[in-house]
Order: sequence, then structure tokens, then C-alpha cells
Amino acid sequence: FTFVTKSKSVTTMAAVQDCPGNLKRQVEKLFDASLRSTVPDETGVQTEVTASLPGKPGDYQCNNAMGLWSIIKGKGTQFKGPPAVGQALLKNLPTSEMVESCSVAGPGFVNVILSSKWMAKSIETMLMDGIDTWAPSLPVKRAVVDFSSPNIAKEMHVGHLRSTIIGDTLARMLEYSKVEVLRRNHVGDWGTQFGMLIEYLFEKFPDTESVTETAIGDLQSFYKESKSKFDADPEFKEKAQKAVVRLQGGDAIYRKAWTKICDISRAEFAKVYQRLRVELEEKGESFYNPYIAKVIEELNSKGLIEESEGARVIFLEGFNIPLMVVKSDGGFNYASTDLTALWYRLNEENAEWIVYVTDVGQQQHFSMFFKAARKAGWLPESDKTYPRVDHVGFGLVKGEDGKRFRTRSSEVVRLVDLLDEAKTRSKTALIERGKDKEWTPEELDQTAEAVGYGAVKYADLKNNRSTSYTFNFDQMLSDKGNTAVYLLYAHARICSIIRKSGKDIDELKKTGKLALDHPEERALGLHLLRFAETVEAACANLLPHVLCEYLYELSERYTSFYSVHQVIGSAEEASRLLLCEATAIVMRKCFHLLGITPVYKI
Ligand code: ARG
Repeated sequence: FTFVTKSKSVTTMAAVQDCPGNLKRQVEKLFDASLRSTVPDETGVQTEVTASLPGKPGDYQCNNAMGLWSIIKGKGTQFKGPPAVGQALLKNLPTSEMVESCSVAGPGFVNVILSSKWMAKSIETMLMDGIDTWAPSLPVKRAVVDFSSPNIAKEMHVGHLRSTIIGDTLARMLEYSKVEVLRRNHVGDWGTQFGMLIEYLFEKFPDTESVTETAIGDLQSFYKESKSKFDADPEFKEKAQKAVVRLQGGDAIYRKAWTKICDISRAEFAKVYQRLRVELEEKGESFYNPYIAKVIEELNSKGLIEESEGARVIFLEGFNIPLMVVKSDGGFNYASTDLTALWYRLNEENAEWIVYVTDVGQQQHFSMFFKAARKAGWLPESDKTYPRVDHVGFGLVKGEDGKRFRTRSSEVVRLVDLLDEAKTRSKTALIERGKDKEWTPEELDQTAEAVGYGAVKYADLKNNRSTSYTFNFDQMLSDKGNTAVYLLYAHARICSIIRKSGKDIDELKKTGKLALDHPEERALGLHLLRFAETVEAACANLLPHVLCEYLYELSERYTSFYSVHQVIGSAEEASRLLLCEATAIVMRKCFHLLGITPVYKI
């Protein structure tokens, strides 16, 4: 391959395209125009528009007046103070059918009340053209999401489960935003542990060719056994160390044994991915091996690398230890592989945004090699500018005892068992409700699966990812409170109302009958229209819980609406059915983005 490192191209968030579905952006655009005509000379001022808090007089507000005032007051302005600036911002607001009325409050906040008619029309347009018209647009074409990434022959633990769930959601949100996502499983398949594993394999199964998965059995125990031998037996240890060299040197027999071990692990991982319906493309650490030497050489030619105690390292400002990139025995490590993978992703795969999902414990590693990459000129100085890298760190999963989540016998929890238990429990709950008599066995099984796996995913995603959370089956499978079960049931109930009405929704959509005349209808409609800006915020900040909060609030607003307004048989039936349909569509999109399979009856 030819070795070229591209000079960086720079894009910032300001390059975000117009997004017709994004309500906040549309209000922002109006204020952009007003700001430009109110203070034509202050071209550097960014428009600040936020959604108003519940109970406030507007739907959105512009918060620029005070900041503007402090900029212009010394410059001989005609304005008398922030409220006057606010008044001018209001006066210069272009007329738009989306705005019902505006007012200035306090020190110049401009409140905007949206037109209910316009809101109803926008929802109808979505019903006609589909929810994809509400997708955010991001200033990147291609991204890498590096997630799950367990280590071969070692346990795939709950930390990897979190990475899998969070990474999949982020990938889904980016994909929805029309970004091409390379879903990368950066499996640990190239450590020194392979020497010992391969030697142990040779010892236990001299006829390595014919050894099968079942013969090795549980790869984790196999790992443990070989590790104890490695620690106890110096002769074995030496053999293992030589084995690493032969493997990395490309010896065919060692390579074959390595492949065998990787295949067995891979089959285990696949069971988890298959249950969660998560797609990943494996490019493990070994993939980058042929490129490492050249990447290190490039860093060296840029003067980044120094010798330290026999190793080769990069000293980085703000860190008291250097980043080791070549070990004293000449071998490469986690950091050299990650630097090389980053180089590959930027230059060979042309990714503009690279997102790494691991526990917060690895934060220092990421900060350090990101910094080294900036020093090498691979990335722009500003970390919000593209091409961009982000470490998406997450907290621990804890057990009821407050400690790291383990089974009762304090073993590592097998993820397949954990997921199976979620499904079994949700099936039991469905049978208790008599669903086995109502549904076909397939329906029962599919619903149990959707609810069980959905519950595990949602319990993880609803927390701000950087915090730790406690794993609790009873809580996550409860049909009350902020759980997947509650939300899935809420969706199913909406679907059943639509079914019971006997009306053809596709016909209704064409009638233009949707209206938001009552406060609860309007509140629900407004929340629906905030979907696009919410997904955009969740994407931009890589925070899935923002979408969960949105979804939960949506179901609450729906409940408030439904508990006071009759749908079927009312004078507003057509309008309300359309509102139900729009709610169900947005809920389903949320489920989809969270990797949860919706259910339609309950
Ligand atoms: N295999 C690592 C672990 O289990 C995670 C790898 C994350 N990705 C990366 N490019 N470093 O902790």
C-alpha cells in the first residue's frame, strides 16, 4: 500500500444544512435574519434560541438581547438597554406563517408562540412524506463507530454489553441522519496472550487440525487454565513467549491455531449480537498490524517519538506519563494499534467522525492518543471541528450490592444467559396475563423477546451514560414508570385505538383535518415537532438518554391528551386519530433508534 497522510479538511457545525423538520432551527433562522438587520455590524454574534421551559409564556425564546447589549453599549448605540434590544429583535423578525405571536419579557427575552395551524400542517406533512423528512442533517458523510470490541478468549462482560447497546444506538442515530456508518468491532485478537493460548492448545490437543469448538468447551476456562500454567510453569512460559514471536512472524501452524481460537470466540460473541440484533463488522487489532511500523515511522519523522528506558514513547503536554508506542522488547501495544487504526480510518476509510465507545476507565488512553494525533497534524486543533474523534465513555453496571455486577457465585455474568433470562421473565409475565391463550406461540415468543431485550437496552440507555447504574430485572421489566415495557405497551395501546376505529388512516391523512385546538392536543403536537431537534442534540452530543427522555415525555403527553379527550366517536375523531398515528410513528422511530423492536398488541 502507499503511505499518504492526507492534510485535514475542516468542517464545523455551522456547515449544518437547513433541516426542514427541525423546529428550533427554523425559529433560529428567523432570528438570524432579525439579528442581522437589528445589528448589521455585529456579524460574529451567534443566534441563541432555546425551547421555553414549561409554564413560560412562549414555545421558543431568543436570548440574545442581554449579550448583545453588553457588546454594543460602549459603541454609541441608539438602544437604551437590553429590553429595547429585545423589542428591536421582535420588530425585525421576518413575518412567517409559523409564528402566532411574539412578546418581550424581562431583560429582553423574545418569546415566540407558534401558530397551532402551522404546527398541525407540519405534522400532516410528516404523515404524508414520512418521518425520514424529520431526520437531522449532520456535516459528515462517513463515520466510524468503534463499539462492543470484546477480547478474544476472554470474557465478554457487561461492560462490553453496554458498549454494544450504546454504540448500536449511536450508529442508528447517525445512520438515520444519512451518515454512512462503519460499525467497527475492534476485537482484541492480537495480544501476547495468544502465545500461551496456542501453546496450551497444542499441549491439550496435539491433533490441532481436528479439534472442535465443543472439545475446547468453554473458552474462558481454557483461558484460565492456560494462564495458571503460564504463571506456574517457567518452561511453558518460555514456549508461550516464543509462540507469540512465531505467530506474529506469520508461521502457518501458529496462524492456524490462532484462527481456530478466534473462530470459537467469534461464535460466542455472535450469539449475543444475534439476540440483540446488532450488526458489526469485525476489524480486530490484528488487521492493523501490517501498517503499524510505517505509522510509527511517520510519527518519528515528525519528531514526536523519543527513547525512554528502552521503549519508544510520545511525551504529551498535560500528562505526567508518556504514551508508549513501542515496548522495550520491540513489540507494539494497545496504543500503537489505536494510533494506526486512527490513521487507517482517516486516510484509507475517509471517515470524518470517529467515535469510540468504552468504559470511562479508558479515558486517559483515548485523551492521550487523540492528543498525539493532533500533534502529528492528523486532526485539527479544535476538538469540535471535523475530522473529529470522540471517546464515548460510560459508567459501571452495578449489582444490588453496589459492587460490579456479578452472579451470585461471584462469577462473571454470561451475557447470553442474562439476555435469555430477560426474555424468560417477560414471557412469564405475559403468560400471567393470559396472553398464551390469546396469541399464537410465535406471537408470544416474539413479544417476550422484544419486551425482554428492549427492557435490558432501555434500562441502560435511559441513564446518562457517564454514570453507573444498578442492574435490576424487576425494575426494568416493570410495566410502570420509565421502562421499555411501559413505553412498548403505550405504543401498542395507541395502535389498538387506531385499529378499533376501523378508519383508513391513509385516507384520513389526505383530508387535512388535523387540528391542535385543545391545550393537550397542542402540547402533544409541539412535542412531536421537537423530535428532529432532539435527535440532532442526542447525535451531536453522543447522548442516547436525551432521546429516552424525549420518548418518555412523549408518552406522558399522549396520556394527558388521551385521559381528557375521547378519540373514537368524538366530533374531532379524524383529527385525533391522525394525532394518534403521528404519535405512534414518532414512538416507533424512537424505538428503532434505540434498537428496540416495537410491539403492536398487548
Ligand atoms: N478491547 C477493548 C476492551 O475490551 C476495547 C477496544 C475499544 N476500541 C479501541 N479502538 N480501543 O477493553
